[in-house]
Amino acid sequence: MDPALDFHTAKALLEWQIELGATEAIGDAPINRYDLATAAPAPVRAAAADPAPVAEPAADPVEEARMLAASAADLESLARVQEAYEHCELKKGARNFVFFDGNPHARVMILGEAPGREEDLQARPFVGRAGQLLDRMLAAIGMARVAPDAEKSVYITNVMPWRPPQNRKPTAAEIAMMLPFVERHVDLVDPDVLVLMGNTPCAALLGREAITRIRGQWTEALGRPVLPMFHPAYLLRNPGAKRETWADLLTLQARLRET
Ligand code: URA
Repeated sequence: MDPALDFHTAKALLEWQIELGATEAIGDAPINRYDLATAAPAPVRAAAADPAPVAEPAADPVEEARMLAASAADLESLARVQEAYEHCELKKGARNFVFFDGNPHARVMILGEAPGREEDLQARPFVGRAGQLLDRMLAAIGMARVAPDAEKSVYITNVMPWRPPQNRKPTAAEIAMMLPFVERHVDLVDPDVLVLMGNTPCAALLGREAITRIRGQWTEALGRPVLPMFHPAYLLRNPGAKRETWADLLTLQARLRET
């Protein structure tokens, strides 16, 4: 603590920051962001052993995302080019890039919204309370992130790989920037079915958000069967909706048995 500050002043300053919305300590030392405005932008990080493919710079962030995503021949290089993408402001406030969890050879790919606090800390999707509920939902139909029987495994990712501040929903512009990466991600995992958890992935892949109306009904996106379901965070707030989700899980299980 600054020796010039007495306990009560320091406490009042801290409370004032919390009131302004600063609920987390990100660094030990304060940063004057006005001074940073004139500094050169951070260089894109290059991996030493296997450099990310170099895409020609594009003026439009969505176009650049498309070129980068198209240049990725496998999941590792997709992770590398997406993590190096500099146009999404959310990257600046996140601790970690959250790419996936589960089995890349799974038949089911689950797409959520964005990392929350726990996911940002652990760099893994769906590891907080909603993620624990998701694990229980999967277990109810004999599935898991990494099941001994690969057929019963799932692959989990999000539309947005960086945590939005205060866990707000990603904006339409942020989703548009991530969409080429999501599409390539789906191509590379090549699942039999896609499960969309909540409105954000429905907005991204189906262009509509009416989860309460479209949940549980098979539709199609990116040339694959898609099942929209309630987001587990919604189920934590609305436990009554678990009944419909149970029906949706059985719908998913039946489809997997059929094919
Ligand atoms: N909610 C999501 O949509 N994704 C996560 O990874 C965690 C919570």
